[in-house]
Amino acid sequence: MKLESSRLLLKPPTEEDIPSIVAVASDWRVAEMVLVPHPYFPSHAQTWIEQARESWRDHGMGALAVFTRQGQAFVGAIGLKPTTVDGHASAGYWFCPSVWGRGFATEALRELVRYGFEVRKLQHIEAGHLLENPASGRVMEKVGMAHAVRVDLPHRDDPGVIVSGIQRCISAEEWEALKAA
Ligand SMILES: CC(C)(COP(=O)(O)OP(=O)(O)OC[C@H]1O[C@@H](n2cnc3c(N)ncnc32)[C@H](O)[C@@H]1OP(=O)(O)O)[C@@H](O)C(=O)NCCC(=O)NCCS
Repeated sequence: MKLESSRLLLKPPTEEDIPSIVAVASDWRVAEMVLVPHPYFPSHAQTWIEQARESWRDHGMGALAVFTRQGQAFVGAIGLKPTTVDGHASAGYWFCPSVWGRGFATEALRELVRYGFEVRKLQHIEAGHLLENPASGRVMEKVGMAHAVRVDLPHRDDPGVIVSGIQRCISAEEWEALKAA
């Protein structure tokens, strides 16, 4: 399994990637915006890699490590997982702060959404971000996730605290229309 865009290579993470994964996922600028444990240990990366393998085997989708095509540098992670609704999946991603602002997240998400609709024949792909993470919202908008709904959910570690976010989505029809435009 391997996806490619003009500058990036996306492939399931392996044990070889653990030091790079830990270095990026441990960075608080990344961890504060995503559902990764903090502090993040090599054992967390190992579990994530095993879950990715199972998900690719069982669902034909899962987590991918993202590398530059030129230089093969690890720059982040992205993934697609099925939701409870048939034909629906949700996307998530995080990238190394040293490469932010170069369009990598947008390029990787666009390729993953293409894979979801064109190869997996999904009907609907969604993604969510915290209210205080407009950069991620912009990435979703740029790949065509035009619908946005505000959601207030209990904090994963402290259900007494409410966390506000935005849920966005794109349908297979909207993806086809974007391609045709
Ligand atoms: C969010 C994240 C993935 C963006 O990665 P990236 O590679 O920098 O994204 P891109 O360069 O493709 O696009 C970023 C867009 O956000 C915009 N942006 C950046 N900061 C912004 C801000 N404070 N407000 C609004 N837009 C912002 C950029 O200008 C760019 O849009 P543009 O191309 O229209 O100018 C990255 O910052 C990250 O990994 N953050 C930590 C983890 C995370 O938030 N993951 C997503 C959880 S939902």
